[in-house]
Order: sequence, then C-alpha cells, then structure tokens
Amino acid sequence: MTIRLGDVVPDFDAETTEGPIRFHEWLGDSWGVLFSHPRNFTPVCTTELGQVARLKPEFDRRNVKVIGLSVDPLDAHEKWAQDIAETQGYAPNFPLIADPDRTISGLYDMIHPNASDTMTVRSVFVVGPDKKLKLSLTYPASAGRNFDEILRVIDSLQLTAQHAVATPANWKDGEDVIIVPSVSDEAAKEKFPGGWKTLKPYLRMVAQPGK
Ligand code: BEZ
Repeated sequence: MTIRLGDVVPDFDAETTEGPIRFHEWLGDSWGVLFSHPRNFTPVCTTELGQVARLKPEFDRRNVKVIGLSVDPLDAHEKWAQDIAETQGYAPNFPLIADPDRTISGLYDMIHPNASDTMTVRSVFVVGPDKKLKLSLTYPASAGRNFDEILRVIDSLQLTAQHAVATPANWKDGEDVIIVPSVSDEAAKEKFPGGWKTLKPYLRMVAQPGK
C-alpha cells in the first residue's frame, strides 16, 4: 500500500519491546516517527538504533514518540539491545516492533522486493497529531540515516503547521524563514508586524516566528 503525504496512516496492533500497542492509541496527541531497520544484529542498524537512543531527549522535547520496526522476533530485539548498549553507549530507550509475519511492513510498503524479499528498507514515516503523514523517507540498507536531519525537518514541520511560513534549503531552527506566497503583503503586515525583507515579490524572508 502506498501511503502519501496527507493520508491518515494505517492503524495496527503490534508486539513491541515495551508491550503490545495499538499504533494510533499509542501515538495519542503526540507527533510520531515510525522507522524500519532491515535486520537485527547487523552493523549499520546497530549504529542507527544507538543514535536514536542518544537523541531520544530531543524527540521528547518536540513531543515526538519514536518507534522502530524490523521483521525480527521480540526475543531477538531484547538480545540485540545488549549489543547496542555495549557498542554504541546507548541502549534502545524506545519501543521496537517485532513484525516477523511482515503484516505491518506490508501495510506500510516497507519491503521492496527488487531490493530484498526478506528485509525491510530503511523507511521513515513522520506522523502528525492528526495521524496524517507529514513526511516519508526511504533509504537502502547500505546507508545509515542522519537522525539529526529528521529532527531538523520535524522542526520545520512543527513550525509550518503553526505559521504561514516555509523553510528554505538547509534551514535550521532559529534561522530566517520564507513567507508563503499565498499570504499577501497586506495580510503579512498583520502576521509579521516586525517586517520582512523582499528579495523578489515571491521571496520574502522573515525572522522565525516565536524566536
Ligand atoms: C546493516 O545494518 O548493516 C545492514 C542490514 C542489512 C543489509 C545490509 C546492511
């Protein structure tokens, strides 16, 4: 099943390292990141889970719940956690879904048979509090993801959900943003009383709201 931006993401029941969950209920009013890793006891995945555990306070600060998934069974997740702690200095501090029958992987189109019949690709789904898909990414098994980038784009998603702005290339929290073209100069005067810089009529830069 293809899940597109703006779709309500599929709900599911899952066994996780923190007990059984129903996904939408588990998300509650939070944002969510659901990410798959191809297999347990593999090198790149080991580093990724260590990085997500290290960054967990940053996800918490943004009201984002993080949950991993692989097709390995629950007992393998528990054994592997010890290796992650030993080699990465951080044990998983977020739930990992066990999806040995690949029900959830199928629901989220995480298995790409021309890449591998048996393992998931490295998928990332960022879900808003409305349960709608805000962003998805697909990486191959050979490339570990940059979870700082995922936090960066969550900053953009959360900002642009609240204000009539967009964020430019390579933007980071605290930097100037773009007034969206649908806001007229007249309306912008009310929304951005501190003023803005017009580089082109369609490219108006303004200080990040709320900073
Ligand atoms: C890894 O995590 O290192 C990995 C997993 C599956 C295939 C290739 C690499």
